[in-house]
Amino acid sequence: MVKTIKGGEVQELKPENERAPAQKKRTANKKKVPEAKLQQKTDQHEFIKTGIPGLDALFEHGIPKNSSVLIAGGAGSGKTLLCLQIMVNAAKVGKKCMYMSFEESAARLKNHMEKFGWILGKYEKNVVIERFNLFDITRSIDALLAKQSGDLLIDVKPVLFPENFKPDIIVIDSLTAIASAFSKREETYRIYIEQLFNYFEELGVSTFLISETEQEPRIFSPTGVEEFLADGVIVLYSIRKANVRENGLEVLKMRGAKHKKKIVAMQILDKTGIEVYPEQEVFGV
Ligand SMILES: Nc1ncnc2c1ncn2[C@@H]1O[C@H](COP(=O)(O)OP(=O)(O)OP(=O)(O)O)[C@@H](O)[C@H]1O
Ligand SMILES: [Mg+2]
Repeated sequence: MVKTIKGGEVQELKPENERAPAQKKRTANKKKVPEAKLQQKTDQHEFIKTGIPGLDALFEHGIPKNSSVLIAGGAGSGKTLLCLQIMVNAAKVGKKCMYMSFEESAARLKNHMEKFGWILGKYEKNVVIERFNLFDITRSIDALLAKQSGDLLIDVKPVLFPENFKPDIIVIDSLTAIASAFSKREETYRIYIEQLFNYFEELGVSTFLISETEQEPRIFSPTGVEEFLADGVIVLYSIRKANVRENGLEVLKMRGAKHKKKIVAMQILDKTGIEVYPEQEVFGV
């Protein structure tokens, strides 16, 4: 399965690889295009934009393609909405997205999207939202682990993609739910999760993995190891000030990308969804 998908990925990347030299060829005839501009054009293909107002401004270029990014935050801090919004925006620019939910049903998630006016319309074919059963996952992982021998890597194939659907973006909602299915078997979860990160890297997809934390977290994942395995960590804060809470967002780390290092204000707006205010700092964590 990995091979098939890898094959698909290579094919998918091909047109882009072909486009890059074609661009150079075209611009080579126009003598006045500066080299820096050409470089910028090429770079844009290597990053993804979230399309969330204010969020992309925290990055110099965007989130590097094929990164695994933890979205960490407390209960109700907006993790699911942030990922749904990123997914809808990506689908509208032609990216194929898969939302793997271990928590809310697909119907509920679609309902949230409708409430915020995130209408996919003709781009609906770019999105698959599926709810997975935790016990099916643990059963198949246990079976795989039982087959493991010596130092051989486990052949993790935990993701069943629909036929002919090779996602560019995957959301896992949430790692915390998966971890809870391994209660008292932390070591098994750790092995599984490491394999899962490797697997996504091999697939060449960009992944957003939701992690439930405290409202003002100091550890960003179920075991504290995931934040080192992930390429990026985006933290959603809900900071208490007297009798109110303010929402904040921080890009804690993003391998291979220059980004702002501060906690900035964020809001969930009734009609449109999440907005980030890159110039408005939030203090008090
Ligand atoms: N229509 C709306 N307008 C404004 N804010 C809303 C609206 N609907 C939901 N919210 C806010 O969004 C929050 C839920 O967001 P979301 O489901 O993304 O949180 P979450 O971090 O995924 O939560 P959980 O940890 O429970 O899964 C609610 O707690 C509420 O504060
Ligand atoms: Mg959620």
